[in-house]
Amino acid sequence: MRKLSLVVVLLLAPSLAHAWPWSRDMANQISVKPQKSVDEANPGMTAFPKRSVPVAGTTVMVKDADAARKMLNPIPADDKSVEQGGRLYAIYCTPCHGKSGTGDGLVGDKLIMKPWNLTNSNEMHNWDPKDYPDGFIWGYISLGGAVMPSYANDLSATERWHVVNYMRKVLQKGQAGQAATQATSTGSGQAK
Ligand code: HEC
Repeated sequence: MRKLSLVVVLLLAPSLAHAWPWSRDMANQISVKPQKSVDEANPGMTAFPKRSVPVAGTTVMVKDADAARKMLNPIPADDKSVEQGGRLYAIYCTPCHGKSGTGDGLVGDKLIMKPWNLTNSNEMHNWDPKDYPDGFIWGYISLGGAVMPSYANDLSATERWHVVNYMRKVLQKGQAGQAATQATSTGSGQAK
C-alpha cells in the first residue's frame, strides 16, 4: 500500500513538461526562429536594418570635448529656439543648475561637486565666447563632465543647440554666441 501511494505521489508531482513522451513543446515547430534568415540561400542571422540598433557615436555625434569646442552653432538663437531650449533646460538642467542657472538646484545641492554657474555672474569665468564658444557648451551637454551625466541620449543634437541658445540669451542675458572670428563660416555643426 505504501509503495503504491509513493508511485501515485511521484506521478502527480510537478515535473518538466517535456519529461513525458506525449508532451509537445510549442517551441518545437516548423517556424522561422527569431533572428534566423528566411532565405535558404543565405542562412544565418539576418542583418539588422540600418540604424535599428545603437551604433557608437550616433547619439553623442562628436569625438571629444576638443572636437566639440570647434563646432559652430548651426541653429540661430531666434525666439522659437530659445523658447524650446528653455523648455528643455527646465526639464533636464534645473534639478542641478537651478532655474536661475547659478547651480542652486535641489539635486545639485546634494552633490559633492556643486553644479557650475551657467550665468555670467560666474566668478570662475564669465562665459566669454572666445574662451567658451557655443561648441564648448554643446560638447559639455553631449559628453558630460566628472559628475555631470551626458545628455546625448535624452536630447538630440539639435535640441542641445536649443539649450545652448537658451543659456546664451536668457541665463547669460543675451551674451553673443560663438566667437565672432568663427562665425564667418557656418553649417559645420552636425545637426540631426
Ligand atoms: C545631475 C546634476 C546635473 C545636471 C542634471 C546637469 N548638470 Fe551640468 N554640471 C553638473 C556638475 C556637477 C558640473 C560641474 C562639472 C562636472 O561635473 O564635471 C556641471 C557643469 C556643467 C557645465 C560646465 C560649466 C563650466 O563652467 O564650465 C555646463 C555647460 C553644464 N553643466 C550644462 C548643463 C546643461 C545645459 C544641463 C541640462 C541639459 C546640465 N548641465 C545638467 C551637474 C549637472
